[in-house]
Amino acid sequence: MAQPQSGSGTSRRTFLRSVGVTGGAGAMFATMGALGLAPTAAYAAEKEAPFQPPRRGDFTLQGRTGKPAEVVVIGAGIAGLTSAYELGKAGYDCTVLEARDRVGGRNLTVRGGDTLTDINGVRQTAGFSKGQYMNAGPARLAQWMVTLDYCRELGVPIEVFTNSNASAFIYNPGTGMTAPVRYRTAKADVYGYVSELLAKATNAGALDGELTADDKERLLTFLKSYGSLGADHTYTGTEHRGFTVDPGASGTPGTELGDVPTLSEVFASNVGRSFSFEFGYDQAMLMFQPVGGMDRIPGAFARAIGEERIRTGAPVTDIRNTGDGVVVTYTQHGRTRTVKADYCIATLAPHILAKTSHNLGSAVQTALLAVRPSYASKIGLEYKSRWWERDFRIFGGITETDMDLDHIWYPSYGHLGDRGVIIGYYNTGAHSEVYSALTPAQRLERAVAQGVAIHGEKYRTELAASFSHQWKLAPYLEGAWHSMPGGPDAPAYAPLNQAQGNVYFAGDYLSYLDAWQHGAITSARKVVTELHRRVLAA
Ligand code: PHE
Repeated sequence: MAQPQSGSGTSRRTFLRSVGVTGGAGAMFATMGALGLAPTAAYAAEKEAPFQPPRRGDFTLQGRTGKPAEVVVIGAGIAGLTSAYELGKAGYDCTVLEARDRVGGRNLTVRGGDTLTDINGVRQTAGFSKGQYMNAGPARLAQWMVTLDYCRELGVPIEVFTNSNASAFIYNPGTGMTAPVRYRTAKADVYGYVSELLAKATNAGALDGELTADDKERLLTFLKSYGSLGADHTYTGTEHRGFTVDPGASGTPGTELGDVPTLSEVFASNVGRSFSFEFGYDQAMLMFQPVGGMDRIPGAFARAIGEERIRTGAPVTDIRNTGDGVVVTYTQHGRTRTVKADYCIATLAPHILAKTSHNLGSAVQTALLAVRPSYASKIGLEYKSRWWERDFRIFGGITETDMDLDHIWYPSYGHLGDRGVIIGYYNTGAHSEVYSALTPAQRLERAVAQGVAIHGEKYRTELAASFSHQWKLAPYLEGAWHSMPGGPDAPAYAPLNQAQGNVYFAGDYLSYLDAWQHGAITSARKVVTELHRRVLAA
């Protein structure tokens, strides 16, 4: 086992200087802060500083040679892969142990021929045809997320993921709606009536306490265009709602969609329920996906790390801090093995780690148990034809419903092709639980019956293959994301936000972006930075 090598006779001052040289002033201030030498404000500011990957030069500048340290990473999900990849840049000797037979963790793309067995023994093999796939886990990336930096660095091409589409539907039969409406129509009606009401209130003087005469004029001008109001500031429908016959050549101006619902009908249908979704910092268009499947990301990570460093089919059975390192026990091919290393980065799901034997102490165990898994699921439906494009003119995007399928996603790849995979349900919480209790055949039937209510019989007759995936039932994961009251910095989770002996914890749950790869990556980078500083200081 390699020992972290301390440069001969490194004094605190030469150490600080070397941190300053290699990590920049920010890293030096942080180190000083950690040693109690600088105001903590400097330390706080430094936490927000851009991530500095560990570099071989960090050691050679200190006159050190050899491998910096051995690190065993538990879990080849995005947090584990990021950890091994970044530490590898400085020459750390990393071994990644992955319980499942593939890397990626919840980043899972299902293609034709893939077989998965749930914890209840139910086995499914995907019958998707060549080139067709479903992203069962993460499926969209916001432009600001660091995940895209790794796509650039690892050479993973990306394409637009269509997260909102004016042509997709909203259907809330629970409110008494009898037919789906297009997003564009629902928006025209909601914005139209809200604008009309606000204009009326403004004109009636109800807002005189808030608005100057100029404000009122400007507001009315805005409302007229935003809500497409008439000269008298009433909403009577507009071409924003859409057409039943599209405009074309001269002589064919098109036919606007008629039957404008009343204001009460619009609000009773609750079609505005999900409008704010697309304002979310994490959900606003444009969004992106890797070309060919989300698992292109873990695939590229694994190649960059070196496949020989990653042991799959290797569930961990014990994690032990020793005086000078860690010993991790796992099984592979029916045999029990151990890895000794200087440090461990544990990226298992917290509720799985809590079920694993360890000597990390009761404070850690209590913190792990305070994180509860929450659930989500998806079904992929492959169709023989892209009837949603031909018949409904929907090219990507999401239909929102109040049925228990929650959301239907139209594929953002393969447009105008022959076949395509729709996500027939993407549901969470109680709705996901309903489907987890069903057999795959029952899930399919339930999802298709609901889809038929929106799209008609082709939703059934054009179906070619399906695959349903419930994260609750996925081995070694048993959850989609986490419920953490108070967020990751709440006192209950403090033991997980710091090293326990030689063991560090990383994962999306220890970030402000739970349920995002960005969260897993930033958590891993934090731990990599801490571990690297510790090794440099040793
Ligand atoms: N990241 C997941 C998704 O985009 C889960 C999530 C949904 C997170 C909505 C935040 C908001 O589907």
